[in-house]
Amino acid sequence: MSASQISNRIHLTYLVDRATPSEDELHPGSDVVRGLSQTPKTLPPRYFYDDRGSLLFEQITELPEYYLTRTETEILKTCAPDIAKITGACELIELGSGNSTKTRILLDAYRSAGHPLVYCPIDISAGILENSAQSLLIDYPSLEVYGLVGTYELALEKLPHAQLPTRMIGFIGSTLGNLSSDECDIFLGQITQALEPGEYFLLGIDLHKSSQQLESAYNDRQGVTAKFNLNMLQHLNQRFQGDFDLTQFEHVAIYNERDRQIEMHLRSLSAQTVHLKALNLTVEFLSGETILSEISRKFDLGEMKELLYKKNLESVQSWTDPNQWFAVLLCRRR
Ligand code: AVJ
Repeated sequence: MSASQISNRIHLTYLVDRATPSEDELHPGSDVVRGLSQTPKTLPPRYFYDDRGSLLFEQITELPEYYLTRTETEILKTCAPDIAKITGACELIELGSGNSTKTRILLDAYRSAGHPLVYCPIDISAGILENSAQSLLIDYPSLEVYGLVGTYELALEKLPHAQLPTRMIGFIGSTLGNLSSDECDIFLGQITQALEPGEYFLLGIDLHKSSQQLESAYNDRQGVTAKFNLNMLQHLNQRFQGDFDLTQFEHVAIYNERDRQIEMHLRSLSAQTVHLKALNLTVEFLSGETILSEISRKFDLGEMKELLYKKNLESVQSWTDPNQWFAVLLCRRR
């Protein structure tokens, strides 16, 4: 297939809100300053994903202890044909375009059902969007890709109307678990707003289970998750001229059973002072003090259905694996 036959089928739209530039565009790193100035200290999970962090996350998905990705993939293989049957011809809108393994499972099902293929990935990075679209366009000769470059929030506000009879927004990978309960409420409201009545939302969530199993998934024996967590400090060093000493912090991940969430921290191994020159920031650490770098919430399927219903997203069908570790839910905007 020639390069032009591929580039003809990829359409990118850059979403920029010139009227109200985000806090991050106006003051890069202001979220880092805020998080490190507060007690207890926190850092936003988005700083995990520089190039090295994205590679480390790919490695995490292949770890024996990290059952999430593997389990969701297995569920999707069984339910994708049902989903294609229920929705009929449908545009697939995906929040976060990541690695396309799971997208392909859905595209295969729609192709087998004889439906036209329209895929709209949304990502903050044009490079990631283009890369993930390239290989899909080669393998799906009739696929059209309409990528939206921008934040989820902006993209959900500006989703183009469907060319096909309906649309489905996919948010898989249990990324919802990284949002606090308040943020989750707001996010689901934005999903509902973005959909017309009758259109679909596909959600993948990790379910609550024994703390032993959860804690091993986030404390793998090879130490990849520890590298992933510590890499955030390395990333901040590069990005904001910092001097975090990576040998003076350690990875900690604990399951908080009451709040049903994994809490990932970076713990200071000594009393120390860290500077981020580009942010004009000096931070003091006590020995043993922690920075919360991520929460990963674990859900109850029934409670999630109720929450979605309250947001006018009615559950059509849900699928889990035989162990009930993970769930995929198909909902419909009321
Ligand atoms: C990408 C949000 C699904 O919460 O399990 C993996 C990120 N953090 N190991 C998760 C992550 C540590 C992951 N998600």
